[in-house]
Amino acid sequence: MSTALVILAAGKGTRMNSDIPKVLHPIAQAPMLVHAMRAGAVLSPERTVIVTGHGSEAVAKAAADEDETAQIAIQEEQLGTAHAVGQARDALDGFSGDVVVLYGDTPFLQPDTLERMIAARAENDLVILGFEAADPARYGRLMMDGETLERIVEFKDASDEERAITFCNSGLLACNAQTLFMLIDAVGNNNASREYYLTDVVEIARNRGLQVTAVACDEEQTLGVNSRADLAVADAVFQARARTELLELGVTLMAPETVYLAADTIIGRDTVIEPNVVFGAGVTVESGATIRAFSHLEGCHVSRGAVVGPYARLRPGAELAENTRVGNFVEIKNAEIAEGAKVNHLSYIGDASVGAASNIGAGTITCNYDGVMKHRTTIGENVFVGSNTMLVAPITLGDGAMTATGTVVTRDVEPDALAVARAKQDNKLGYARKLFDMLKAKKARRDKGA
Ligand code: UD1
Ligand code: MG
Repeated sequence: MSTALVILAAGKGTRMNSDIPKVLHPIAQAPMLVHAMRAGAVLSPERTVIVTGHGSEAVAKAAADEDETAQIAIQEEQLGTAHAVGQARDALDGFSGDVVVLYGDTPFLQPDTLERMIAARAENDLVILGFEAADPARYGRLMMDGETLERIVEFKDASDEERAITFCNSGLLACNAQTLFMLIDAVGNNNASREYYLTDVVEIARNRGLQVTAVACDEEQTLGVNSRADLAVADAVFQARARTELLELGVTLMAPETVYLAADTIIGRDTVIEPNVVFGAGVTVESGATIRAFSHLEGCHVSRGAVVGPYARLRPGAELAENTRVGNFVEIKNAEIAEGAKVNHLSYIGDASVGAASNIGAGTITCNYDGVMKHRTTIGENVFVGSNTMLVAPITLGDGAMTATGTVVTRDVEPDALAVARAKQDNKLGYARKLFDMLKAKKARRDKGA
């Protein structure tokens, strides 16, 4: 049976206190919505429909970045969850499989939960995902009769007796598309909130003799994000899971709780990650690399056997080949460092390529920006760049070239040539003493006068 996802994401998210639509707030550097889309992707959906209202343009863009086939349905007014699902009707025109409804602010669903819902759908017309709530608070309550789900009662409309029930509604459901829209058509808004409740489809289905059941998952999976505090909790949950996965994959994390990961971080086995390392989006670290303490990586690729840090910053487009070294207080941006090359101390390498086995001395800077445009620096193989060299781009250093310490390189350097561009040294004998004496006398006069 083919499936379609409908992801509800039109809510205002008032409690986020934000100009950004709630579902675009990031967890581990990826919008919440993207986490929900990835969770749903295990069902290989034939169609994905995002129902959006507030900030729909930005939401549509984030959805398209993740899946260009995702469709957008606009809910102009937020009249309730049933009304929201109703907005997906046009996008699902001609689709006759199962619809799975997810929330865009519920990022932690596990693949097997959705698979269990689909499996239960085979024997039921409608399947709801429930969970035992530690604190049922304001969740809708699931009224079970054996295996059959008879009704969902929203907290606002529940009696004290019903509020005592702890089996709660996650909001997710699975149902055949035609059946679902037929049920939604029958939903009214005669309740405490004057909203069209999606939860009402259960009772309507039962009244029509349809089979309805609930599948349970643990509460963590249904964790919804409504506030910044929830967002922080969600991020922490994500981090804990991702660290555990890496440890199981054979990555050493010396102090796991201090390593911050992104949703798309890829790290190969036998890599060692020292404490206090931050991974931004788009990082791949191959097997057997070492990322030393206090390094910050984003949009970069680190190959086998490379050693990065401590205190290194790899920015987007940093491409480190095998057995490279990038040391302390070095920033690399949009630059390829070829096999065995070393940039060990206090350097900025941007918009550049560094050839194999070259050595970049301490304090080297690629002067890539003239205030208007960016320019490239090309460094050949086996080049020795002396400490404190300024490479004024665009510039090329041929294979085997060398620059003298303190050189400002403004012309290309031929292969095997030595570039020296600095003022000649002149040692004035006795001058240091004279200067000291003069300064001390000046200070003494000033102190006396004061
Ligand atoms: C809903 C359920 C409740 C369940 C809870 C789980 C209903 C009536 N109630 O309540 O049983 O326990 O979720 O978290 O469904 N949305 C729209 N358009 C709307 C309204 C909501 O897109 O008009 C979206 C929201 O952005 C959100 C989701 O639907 O992603 C749920 O809406 P929310 O207002 O949070 O519902 P709850 O009151 O929490
Ligand atoms: Mg909610």
